[in-house]
Amino acid sequence: MNILVINGPNLNLLGERELEVYGENTLEELMMWLETSAEGSDHKFKFYQSNHEGVIIDAIHDERQWAQGIIINAGALSHYSYAIRDAISGTNIPTVEIHLSNIMQREDFRKISVLRDVCIKLIYGLGKQSYIEGLKILNKNV
Ligand code: DQA
Repeated sequence: MNILVINGPNLNLLGERELEVYGENTLEELMMWLETSAEGSDHKFKFYQSNHEGVIIDAIHDERQWAQGIIINAGALSHYSYAIRDAISGTNIPTVEIHLSNIMQREDFRKISVLRDVCIKLIYGLGKQSYIEGLKILNKNV
């Protein structure tokens, strides 16, 4: 399967940012770990990270012919970006929303995801394992 992995705002700072919340791995380490995981072995990956909503939307549009599944951690945009939600529903690519931290046990604004209804599943709170669980969901459903 061709899998597009999208990481949103501030995830480029993994490994520096709030280590107790997000863990010690850099984004690059994490993405390499995902790509070389047993679950990832049969797939092709493309990785995008951006701090800009429009760039994320463009990535979904640009890869819509290639991508057969999306794993997205849209960072804080998950909580309010109707435009990313529309890009996911408009392209109809099976998508799993993931978060490293347990968004349900943090500030109230994080408990709301405007993406979850257009995704196959929302996974959160498992640290880097959230990405692998996202992959497993795509493996099962696509
Ligand atoms: C996050 C959770 C978001 O609320 C936050 O804004 C992030 C990271 C996570 O992976 O836990 O940037 O998406």
